[in-house]
Amino acid sequence: MSVLKAENITKVYGDKRGGLKVKALDKFSIRVEKGEFVGVMGPSGSGKSTLLNILATIDTPSSGELFINGVNLAGLDEKNAALFRRKELGFIFQDFNLLDSLSIKENIALPLVLEKMKVKEIEKRLEGIAEILNIKGILEKRPYETSGGQQQRAACARALIHNPSIILADEPTGNLDSKASQDVMEALEKLNNEKDTTIMMVTHDPFAASFCKRIVMIKDGKHFLEIVKGSNRGAFFKEIMDALTVIGGRQNDLI
Ligand SMILES: Nc1ncnc2c1ncn2[C@@H]1O[C@H](COP(=O)(O)OP(=O)(O)OP(=O)(O)O)[C@@H](O)[C@H]1O
Ligand SMILES: [Mg+2]
Repeated sequence: MSVLKAENITKVYGDKRGGLKVKALDKFSIRVEKGEFVGVMGPSGSGKSTLLNILATIDTPSSGELFINGVNLAGLDEKNAALFRRKELGFIFQDFNLLDSLSIKENIALPLVLEKMKVKEIEKRLEGIAEILNIKGILEKRPYETSGGQQQRAACARALIHNPSIILADEPTGNLDSKASQDVMEALEKLNNEKDTTIMMVTHDPFAASFCKRIVMIKDGKHFLEIVKGSNRGAFFKEIMDALTVIGGRQNDLI
């Protein structure tokens, strides 16, 4: 069973209040299997954030169906949908969204503390994840005492600590310089390789995208093309660059 299955998703904005209608997604379909690391790319305005918001169940499609672990989200009432979302999904945003009043460790553990999980179990989970993400040394610090890359890796840990079925990330390297981006992407790659974490990430950055195993390109809300990584990240990076040239748009829109 696919972790995520979206079928013929169409999203039209401006439907309810009238006015100008925009078809942000047009019969878009995608499947993500356990252990995949999928990147979504495409020109500005092509529908990437719309797609991610629908997959995150933050927004609803105008038509089409979404299944997460075989469950059709449309069949759940609001309360159960919220519970399902909290259990099955993990989010990483462009801004790290950590609370400055808490330590890094408390930020990461917060979702589990709210669920009243035993401290011992929380500590155990935290240790394993902090090791992989290389943030053991900053757990007692406050977010403002750490670098952007460290904060984003802490945000990755927070997204993961409840063992979600899939991590959804929108431009996770968007606010980072190239060294910090590389650190974050290496950390995500490691999670994917070592813990079989399923990840779907929207990005403009071909370098960040080259850490994925598969890239799906969207244009005008439609599936445009797909590239699968071979054994070599360098060659994959070049294929991504070539595809971005083919998909068109101004260079500024793409990188
Ligand atoms: N809330 C909204 N109301 C109306 N139109 C919207 C809304 N959100 C997005 N759109 C439109 O839908 C289309 C897709 O937008 P979306 O934000 O998904 O693009 P994107 O691929 O994420 O772009 P970017 O790379 O610039 O973030 C665009 O034409 C956009 O103007
Ligand atoms: Mg966007």
